[in-house]
Amino acid sequence: MEPLTLPLRTDRLVLRPYRENDAEAHLPIYSREDVSRFLLQDPWTAEVAETEIAKRIPRTGLETESRALALVIETADGLDSLEGSRVIGDIAIWLEDGSESKAEIGWILDPAAGGHGFATEAAIAMLGVAFEHYGLHRVFAQMDPRNTASANLAQRIGMRQEAHLRQDWWSKGEWTDTLIFGMLNSDRQQA
Ligand SMILES: CC(C)(COP(=O)(O)OP(=O)(O)OC[C@H]1O[C@@H](n2cnc3c(N)ncnc32)[C@H](O)[C@@H]1OP(=O)(O)O)[C@@H](O)C(=O)NCCC(=O)NCCS
Repeated sequence: MEPLTLPLRTDRLVLRPYRENDAEAHLPIYSREDVSRFLLQDPWTAEVAETEIAKRIPRTGLETESRALALVIETADGLDSLEGSRVIGDIAIWLEDGSESKAEIGWILDPAAGGHGFATEAAIAMLGVAFEHYGLHRVFAQMDPRNTASANLAQRIGMRQEAHLRQDWWSKGEWTDTLIFGMLNSDRQQA
């Protein structure tokens, strides 16, 4: 796998690797109850933010030891006349254990930046990297079916719902269902 040239740029966004001082920008997003509701983790504290960001800094490509690419989503300079750029979320892909050709994708957006298609734009760019740069065979996403915003996003970017697993995951004091969405490299060639 070839190293990727970063940052990635889309019409309205810059997707860049993590830096040490990103804990500060991510804490207000991940500490929210509504953001973490369907994540496997609890709302972040300042201490958790530091350790989580430290784990993400090395995730600069699937070819690295981390086997993952984790990118901060920033608005491009000058967007909507905002001064400078602003961190609005993050997006990541990571190789499935034991595979070099299948990866999972995950996304988080600041609710204050929701409803403008920013997550869609970032996810489409990430799928492009997954299939065109890394030549992956399959990318999949998993979410709690109650997380309709996430399921709608997967659908919007052309992923196909493949499964609805019943109560397969113990999370936050209850058995929860899981939706699995997938996209194959060959789906893109047909599109
Ligand atoms: C999942 C999540 C990233 C989706 O965010 P989102 O704001 O709904 O997604 P987008 O940024 O792509 O915006 C899509 C919305 O903007 C609208 N939109 C406006 N302009 C658009 C454009 N140019 N392109 C696409 N959509 C656009 C869409 O119609 C859609 O609106 P709707 O919600 O009324 O259907 C967000 O809800 C989130 O971070 N949730 C918490 C964390 C989480 O659970 N992550 C997933 C774990 S599995």
